[in-house]
Amino acid sequence: MPSGSVVVVGGTSGLGLEVARHYAGQGREVVLSGRDRRRAEAAAAEVGGKARGIDLDLAEPAELADRLADVEGVAHLVLAAIERDENRVSAFDLEGATRLAVLKLVGYAEVVHVLAPRMDPEGAVVLFGGRAKDRPYPGSTMVSTVNGGVTGLVHSLAVELAPVRCNAIHPGIVGDSPYWSAKGEPALEPVRNRTPSRRLVTMEDIVGAVVFLLENRSVNGENLHVDGGWLLL
Ligand SMILES: NC(=O)c1ccc[n+]([C@@H]2O[C@H](COP(=O)([O-])OP(=O)(O)OC[C@H]3O[C@@H](n4cnc5c(N)ncnc54)[C@H](OP(=O)(O)O)[C@@H]3O)[C@@H](O)[C@H]2O)c1
Repeated sequence: MPSGSVVVVGGTSGLGLEVARHYAGQGREVVLSGRDRRRAEAAAAEVGGKARGIDLDLAEPAELADRLADVEGVAHLVLAAIERDENRVSAFDLEGATRLAVLKLVGYAEVVHVLAPRMDPEGAVVLFGGRAKDRPYPGSTMVSTVNGGVTGLVHSLAVELAPVRCNAIHPGIVGDSPYWSAKGEPALEPVRNRTPSRRLVTMEDIVGAVVFLLENRSVNGENLHVDGGWLLL
């Protein structure tokens, strides 16, 4: 097992929070982040164990080195953050589009740049993309774009970070995640019906896949789709 903490950027909510909960429950040191320090500390207290919360804004990449200055000795790094915009080219919100593009592509890469020298050589990085890269939904123009960008970033990082491994996970619609469960059955039922497994992906499924990508020592440079076979129908 690599030594050091498990860092989860975007760990105050949804999938990142569940990954943080998993590793805190295993007794690992966990550093989880959100944009607001108090919210991050509350999430860390909720997952318990040896977790602590820090604040950083991926859309302000020039500040990230300072925000991460006291994060030492990293075993695993998970980048799960997103600030969703509902964007379409017919009514393009430039500000939201720019924030999301900077957050996921430049912000993720800058966090890796800052923390890579502090990582155990046997550790690993997981980036969150998403199936919207292949199957867009109304308003997903920028989400589809940045999640597609994650695919290329992983290939580059797997080479640059060696021997540290880097993989990405691309979930389908995660039915019990806060963002999608809030939309309710009218949004979820068509997805379930179009999925060969006839069930929606769960947060537990995603945590299991992230753990696999972090801990299997031969998996590297992969873009893993976890979607119940959604794209086959
Ligand atoms: N949910 C799904 O069904 C689904 C499907 C496919 C892919 N994904 C991907 O999975 C990842 C997690 O999604 P989720 O639905 O679990 O997300 P979520 O519940 O919306 O949580 C987003 C996280 O990102 C943090 N965050 C937001 N803006 C940030 C910023 N500018 N800088 C740093 N952190 C920021 C939030 O922290 P604060 O709000 O505390 O600041 C929160 O911890 C995303 O990358 C998403 O693209 C999710």
